[in-house]
Amino acid sequence: MADLLTVKNLSVHYKIQSGWVYAVDDVNFSLKPGETMGLVGESGCGKTTTGYAVTQLLANNAYLKADSKVIFDGKDLIKMGTYPSKNYPGYRKIDEFNADMRKYRWKRISMIFQGAMNAFNPVYKVGDQIIEAILAHEDMTEQEARKRVEELYDLVGIPKDRIDNYPHEYSGGMKQRAMIAMSMALNPDLIIADEPTTALDVVTQDRILGKMVELQKKENVAMILITHDVSVVAEMAHKMSVMYAGHLVEKGTAREIFKETAHPYTEALLKAFPSIKGEKKKLRAIPGSPPDLANPPKGCRFAPRCPYAKDICLEKEPPVVEISPGHFSKCHFAEELYGELSGGE
Ligand SMILES: Nc1ncnc2c1ncn2[C@@H]1O[C@H](COP(=O)(O)OP(=O)(O)OP(=O)(O)O)[C@@H](O)[C@H]1O
Ligand SMILES: [Mg+2]
Repeated sequence: MADLLTVKNLSVHYKIQSGWVYAVDDVNFSLKPGETMGLVGESGCGKTTTGYAVTQLLANNAYLKADSKVIFDGKDLIKMGTYPSKNYPGYRKIDEFNADMRKYRWKRISMIFQGAMNAFNPVYKVGDQIIEAILAHEDMTEQEARKRVEELYDLVGIPKDRIDNYPHEYSGGMKQRAMIAMSMALNPDLIIADEPTTALDVVTQDRILGKMVELQKKENVAMILITHDVSVVAEMAHKMSVMYAGHLVEKGTAREIFKETAHPYTEALLKAFPSIKGEKKKLRAIPGSPPDLANPPKGCRFAPRCPYAKDICLEKEPPVVEISPGHFSKCHFAEELYGELSGGE
């Protein structure tokens, strides 16, 4: 099966007064139709930047390195939606008003934004906002769009009579479900869900994620699930990508990442989270803190915190090693550590 999405050499840097923030560097991954990829890592490691680079919904100080590619259904969206920067040669800048790119957003690739709880405009009824989004893209009457919203509410489990309520009349979980309904409204091929349930309690979170998987299977939608909670990924994702300080340090199937961990950062991240299926273990915070991305360390970006680091790690950026087919680790000692690191459970 051909890839739905191929992200190649993606580098996104933010221009700030004192220089650059190297938020995302040389990220590569791909997704097939209907597949879910979990994108995990500590706060500030570049997850949102990576996710939104796909639809180029980035802040206006974001610049993409010119060789970055986002191929979606055969089209390079970066070529389509950006232009070469005059001020910064070698970079491309986002063309915010690009009409071709707009056709892809929502219709083919939809997004659930981080903090989506507050994404609805408080002065309009929630249902009307979804209807509006549908009408903006589909040739439908208002009645037909409303019918679609009713179906979606049914799918995500919100009573239909809530369509005419305002956002403040919804609970947090309901707003989140409504956001999921909105993201599915135009039958997209890909959903980028940025921390879709982080603000909710664990029980509600579980129920909503369950619903998302169900919908996704039913409609064969691919998903990039961005979260700092690795247990969420274990339950939902086929594939998993682990980011650290703007680099993708390990990728593979969720099973490989959990059971055959091949990067010290992944090991540390998995140890810092409670295991999903019972078995009590001691949680260990990762010592130290991630580097300042305006001034990242020159070797491996994780080296200063890595218990296995040797001299070379501080000096030289590690290559990406294919440890087993489709399972990659960006570590000088990936081969040696493979099979030695402890994974999830
Ligand atoms: N517009 C911007 N200008 C400058 N720096 C930015 C901008 N947006 C993000 N950054 C920086 O880029 C890096 C990556 O940010 P990003 O939001 O992608 O991380 P994240 O992994 O999504 O974090 P979180 O888990 O907290 O949401 C961070 O260091 C952040 O401070
Ligand atoms: Mg984020």
